[in-house]
Amino acid sequence: MNTVAASAATAFVADRTDDAPRDEAYETVGEIHSPNARITVRDVTVWYGEKIGIENVNIDIGSNEVLALVGPSGCGKSTFLRCLNRMNDIIDNCRMSGTIRLDGDDIFDPKLDVVLLRARVGMVFQKPNPFPKSIYDNVAYGPRIHGLSETRADTDEIVQRSLERAGLWEEVKDRLEQPGTGLSGGQQQRLCIARAIAVSPEVILMDEPCSALDPIATARIEELIDELRQQYAIALVTHSMQQAARVSQRTAYFHLGHLVEVGETSQIFTNPRHTLTEDYITGRVG
Ligand SMILES: Nc1ncnc2c1ncn2[C@@H]1O[C@H](COP(=O)(O)OP(=O)(O)OP(=O)(O)O)[C@@H](O)[C@H]1O
Ligand SMILES: [Mg+2]
Repeated sequence: MNTVAASAATAFVADRTDDAPRDEAYETVGEIHSPNARITVRDVTVWYGEKIGIENVNIDIGSNEVLALVGPSGCGKSTFLRCLNRMNDIIDNCRMSGTIRLDGDDIFDPKLDVVLLRARVGMVFQKPNPFPKSIYDNVAYGPRIHGLSETRADTDEIVQRSLERAGLWEEVKDRLEQPGTGLSGGQQQRLCIARAIAVSPEVILMDEPCSALDPIATARIEELIDELRQQYAIALVTHSMQQAARVSQRTAYFHLGHLVEVGETSQIFTNPRHTLTEDYITGRVG
């Protein structure tokens, strides 16, 4: 990370206001705990200036699960996701209170290396964002800066394995030196997933990863998400109820910055407990 971002991160930590007033009364409906929690989020409130982005959120994200985050535009899904690898640090005016732990480690511990955190908690964005580098270097970049590959042969192996796991290897193996930006949208998104998994993360965050893709590319990414679940904890923001139903095991419903309800995806979609959840999934809101 560059120095500006690093100092912004420090300022962000220093600004945390753990004793700020918050809506203690808000209770999420459903089971927020996961038996195999990798990430635990407790009493997390995020402000943009004076404005609240999310308020008093409590939830676990477990290994081998896809947690779908759904809710109307502006309800705080991306804000929540960005907390988990401290991407909110780089937004001016953004402050938070509460605790987030990754495998028991406080991610706001001043001794924690944020660059390393972002390798452990990888992110895939709505719009594929390959680096302006070759396909090979897009994937090799992370392992190199994190010292995961010492020799060219190590790097070659990681690049090939990551591209294979992302379902892209066969399509690009003969053009690894060509720019990543020259691939189709769906291929670029798989390249970004390969880049995220190349550093062996523990958690993968995906913010509407298929919204710019056609149904065929979407189906490939969904298959991939299901496969990646075997190894990672995945949090997936989606506006598609069908997608949430297809790929997630648990679903969290956000509304106006509150985490309203969490539960097994099948229960949320067939038998929601909160009327706000019901209104949303039946199409009355959003
Ligand atoms: N950088 C920012 N500066 C100020 N306010 C912000 C910023 N980012 C988000 N917000 C506000 O925080 C709230 C939650 O926004 P967020 O982007 O998390 O919603 P979202 O659920 O991801 O919406 P969408 O489905 O449209 O992506 C909104 O009221 C939004 O206006
Ligand atoms: Mg968003």
